[in-house]
Amino acid sequence: MAKVSADPLIDPDAGEALRAEVGSLREQIAQLTRSGHELISTQTRMQSLLHRATDAIIQFESDGTISSFNRAAERIFDYAEIEVLHQHGQRLFHLPPQYEQDVPAYLLNYAQNTKKQYDTPLIGLRRDGTPVLLEVSIAEIEADDLVLFDDFSDTANTGESAGYEAFLCILRDITERKHIDEELRQHRENLENLVAEQVEEIRHAKDQAERANLAKSEFLANMSHELRTPMHAILSYSDLGRKKLATAKPEKLEQYFNRINGAGSRLLSMINDLLDLSKAEAGRLVCDMRPSSLTDVIEAVLTEYEVLADQRQQKIRFASDAAETVIEIDAERIGQLVRNLLSNALKFSADGGVVTISIDDTTLERNADDPIPAVSIVVSDSGVGIPEAELLSVFDKFEQSSRNRRQNGGTGLGLAISREIVHAHGGEISAANNPGAGACFTVVLPRLQAHR
Ligand SMILES: Nc1ncnc2c1ncn2[C@@H]1O[C@H](COP(=O)(O)OP(=O)(O)O)[C@@H](O)[C@H]1O
Ligand SMILES: [Mg+2]
Repeated sequence: MAKVSADPLIDPDAGEALRAEVGSLREQIAQLTRSGHELISTQTRMQSLLHRATDAIIQFESDGTISSFNRAAERIFDYAEIEVLHQHGQRLFHLPPQYEQDVPAYLLNYAQNTKKQYDTPLIGLRRDGTPVLLEVSIAEIEADDLVLFDDFSDTANTGESAGYEAFLCILRDITERKHIDEELRQHRENLENLVAEQVEEIRHAKDQAERANLAKSEFLANMSHELRTPMHAILSYSDLGRKKLATAKPEKLEQYFNRINGAGSRLLSMINDLLDLSKAEAGRLVCDMRPSSLTDVIEAVLTEYEVLADQRQQKIRFASDAAETVIEIDAERIGQLVRNLLSNALKFSADGGVVTISIDDTTLERNADDPIPAVSIVVSDSGVGIPEAELLSVFDKFEQSSRNRRQNGGTGLGLAISREIVHAHGGEISAANNPGAGACFTVVLPRLQAHR
């Protein structure tokens, strides 16, 4: 500003200088006013930016009090700015004991020392105490300048006086993101488990298929042998008969016919077994259920086996303890079942052995509250028994226990068919070993088909 050197009243030039001076002052005032307006508009813009930010922005003074709290902060913490202004920020964070009185130190230490904030987020507290997971960045404000956290952190770390006037704390709410990530992680884990389960299932199925294939090959070898033996008998005895037709005594010829007939029956029963099994597998084992006497069915089978048992001095004992033995069954099929069990019992017992068949009242416990009235048939022998590990597999088709494989002939179809028959009746079948010796097969059949 030019110095006014003379009194305008006594110096005429001084009036002119004064006017110039006033003009310059006016000019300066106008400029200042413009700058003031600009400043206000910049500040308004800054305020609006601050409030529109999606992250919480909180300004802390060097004494730890809050001097600004934007809208996002209000939303995240559920406090109005007016409630927290000029207050210390303790209530906003879940603070470890050593930082209870010093929120700024806590924030600074956290922001500086936590390399992977997303993995160990800062925990903020909403008004109602629910936690909010936060990522933090901090900017120092030094007099007129805004300095990035990096410079600032050194002082925070050494614990020296902070040397800042205030700082801005920018907090991003990552609760939702963490939540989604956790869900994704769980989905991924579930998916992995599912895949592992399926791989396991496929492996299991493959093992089963391989075992079935092996059993089938064994069966084919066995079957050809089984078919060939009676076929040979038929051919050789018929050939013998033909050659000796003129010379042989009638008794001799009758013997040939009997052998041919026996071999033919064995062949037929084997073929019937195969047909039954393929029918059962196609779900076409239809049973004709009628009230029938179980005792009659069993006794009929026993007569068939009398001669065979006698030949080996084997005894068959039958006892019925059931109150009522007329139940709803397909008598033909149950006869076939008893025949299978009895023939096995005799086949796997030594000469002179005893086989017992008994029937008794029992229940099927499908539903604990409502047991189904049923009858049990138990066929027990004193023979070789079945290895414990094979008590289930002997019911699989073509399966024979390791105790008699390829020794006693047979095709391994009888028990598979028996199980199909029992299931078609809504019943259950199981094998066990007797405490002394021999195997014991238990069949449980519901009394009425309506109760299946
Ligand atoms: N009473 C039994 N005692 C010992 N083993 C048995 C008895 N019944 C069945 N098995 C075992 O179960 C296998 C399967 O029986 P089954 O299906 O009737 O076939 P198969 O009689 O043609 O061998 C038999 O080969 C035998 O190993
Ligand atoms: Mg058998």
